[in-house]
Amino acid sequence: MMQHVSHDWGIAALSGAGESLRWIERAKTWVVDTLPGLNVDVQAGQLAPHEMAALIQPWVSEANGLVRGRKLHPWLARRRLQPLGFPISALEKHFRENGQPAGTGLACLSGAEDLLFWLGKMAQHPPRDSHYTNYLWNSLEQPLTYTGSQQEIFFIDMVQQTHELHGQSYQALLEVCEGDLDIDSPAAIEAIRLATKNTLVVRDLYRSFFMKGATGERNMALDFFVQFRTFKPPFPVKGTTWTGANAGNVAYQMGLDCLMGTIVDEHMNFINGRLRLLTNEDRCMVVDAQELPSLLDCILERLALSRSDLEAWSDEAVGRYVAQHGPNFQRVIDAYDALVKAAGEMSAIHWSLVKNYVIRAGERLDASGKTTLAVPHKAGLTGTSHGQLQQIMEMRRNHPIISKLFSKAKTT
Ligand code: HEM
Repeated sequence: MMQHVSHDWGIAALSGAGESLRWIERAKTWVVDTLPGLNVDVQAGQLAPHEMAALIQPWVSEANGLVRGRKLHPWLARRRLQPLGFPISALEKHFRENGQPAGTGLACLSGAEDLLFWLGKMAQHPPRDSHYTNYLWNSLEQPLTYTGSQQEIFFIDMVQQTHELHGQSYQALLEVCEGDLDIDSPAAIEAIRLATKNTLVVRDLYRSFFMKGATGERNMALDFFVQFRTFKPPFPVKGTTWTGANAGNVAYQMGLDCLMGTIVDEHMNFINGRLRLLTNEDRCMVVDAQELPSLLDCILERLALSRSDLEAWSDEAVGRYVAQHGPNFQRVIDAYDALVKAAGEMSAIHWSLVKNYVIRAGERLDASGKTTLAVPHKAGLTGTSHGQLQQIMEMRRNHPIISKLFSKAKTT
């Protein structure tokens, strides 16, 4: 079993943290025990959104009393944000689905906007729930959820495992891209193979969404996700709109694409658009990865070949040229080929999740006449069109330069 993210936040020893930690534990227990039921009641029309707001208000007021005007250790601010982000985002959803504009839920909670703004600043993190608070920093032993559903917990688990695997691959490839390992050294080939193995495990995690357990239920039912994502609508905090928790913001996927070189200009724009949604440390990691030479760059440098040469040369010419570098270098190309193929397969299964759990499930909802979703199914949580997502998948599966390198290698 994969070792999950450590939940030792490293702040227990901070002076004055005791009261804060007690509040955090109480607030988390409230989210676990109470929030899913409130969401069910509001959706069933048995509780009005403003009544739900009244039940959330004491947590906001108490947190404000503890935090107002105080400088906080980033991890303390992050831990405080976590149990606040879930109910505030859920409240936003309910107001949106009752026809109110974005920000209505937040405005109903006295002091909440200032609180989120301050905590976000102290936390070096978006001022609301995120893929960190909901997935990476969530605990599978006592998971905070909007729905209480095993399917939401399964999703949290999948994101945590993906983050771990991509993180391990990223660290392995970093040694090559930073120049600590020569691209044709046995250790570099091992690093590429490790990343390949991990990427195939992520592919299988994506596949496992469709699988059915002993009860005959899928790990995630086809219509669950399109409802689940409505708990994370965008809303403004002090005039800036923030999107909510989104597995698409897992930073190691961005870093890995950069280190592998499976990037096109549009994807760099996609990554740059997400930097503001990352913690400071993840942002630095991704920016570093953008600046480092990728595996593709390392291979081309060793071949003394430019990208424009690769584009311009015929298949046969590239094949002959690579072959001149001997069987040892061919092993590097083969390892790289396997890694890029694994990323393509992983991305293809993810695309199939999008088609089945967002596009088709959304169309079924449309047909049933339920069209007032707080997050419509026509685009991603951060507004990424489904067409763009398909392009990202194609970028990994059939990269304009990289795939050329392999097809030539095979013809030699
Ligand atoms: C039912 C399961 C899933 C569905 C339907 C789904 C759907 C989507 C959608 C609609 C987007 C675009 C979001 C945006 O606008 O930002 C997206 C992006 C993304 N998702 Fe998922 N997702 C699923 C599971 C996961 C899981 C478990 C992970 C693991 C971390 C993940 C990782 C990503 C990544 C990295 C992106 C960014 C695009 C890319 O790099 O390929 N997804 N997903």
